[in-house]
Amino acid sequence: MAIPKIIIAIDGYSSCGKSTVAKEVAARLGYNYIDSGAMYRAITLYFLRNNVDIKDGDEILQALKDIHLSFEYNDATHQSEIHLNDENVEHQIREMIVAEKVSEVAAIKEVRGFATAQQKRLGKKKGIVMDGRDIGTTVFPDAELKIFMTADPEVRVKRRFEELYATNPSITLDEVMHNLQLRDYIDSSREESPLRQASDAIVLDNSSLSKEEQLEKVLGWVKERASQLAES
Ligand code: DC
Repeated sequence: MAIPKIIIAIDGYSSCGKSTVAKEVAARLGYNYIDSGAMYRAITLYFLRNNVDIKDGDEILQALKDIHLSFEYNDATHQSEIHLNDENVEHQIREMIVAEKVSEVAAIKEVRGFATAQQKRLGKKKGIVMDGRDIGTTVFPDAELKIFMTADPEVRVKRRFEELYATNPSITLDEVMHNLQLRDYIDSSREESPLRQASDAIVLDNSSLSKEEQLEKVLGWVKERASQLAES
């Protein structure tokens, strides 16, 4: 059956493999994939580069005025990559220095307002898979399909460690574990749209699922939703 253009919201803890599933689902459906975490990371990178004092509301507002974020498709990597004021920062935003600060920056009300407004605009035409922490609860509360991903903490730490080790062999498992625990804590305990499972989200625990198995499940849910929508 033809799949209509819907919004697929994927939320969950850090390093649950959200982006891997989201990218693959988007590719299969011919949808756009938007990594909302990349937006918070790019804002954090800007704040770090420009020594923005995150305790100073005026400085934050001024900085946000000077930030332009866009996603550009890279023909070489076949991915849409984030640009900060027209500079491709896809690699810089994955560095530990950004990871250590991003949850604090993402907890700032003005920063969330800025990012959320842009995310909503990106979803206007539907046909989108967006992953993050508050996509099904705040950004797209009416998304046709909401998935909440989770995985055992040890599995998540190992995955993130392997990812970071490829470019930074001095990184330790302990450092990665502490960063993940701290980010999960800040992300779920902040006042502004904390990480929460939406009441109508389907849980996907991928601790022991292969990529193919996850993809199969999600595509199955997409088909189910599509036929429910067709009947309604
Ligand atoms: O998905 P990620 O690890 O790249 O996200 C980076 C940080 O951004 C994460 O610690 C929480 C924050 N974030 C958020 O608060 N809301 C989102 N929708 C996406 C990410």
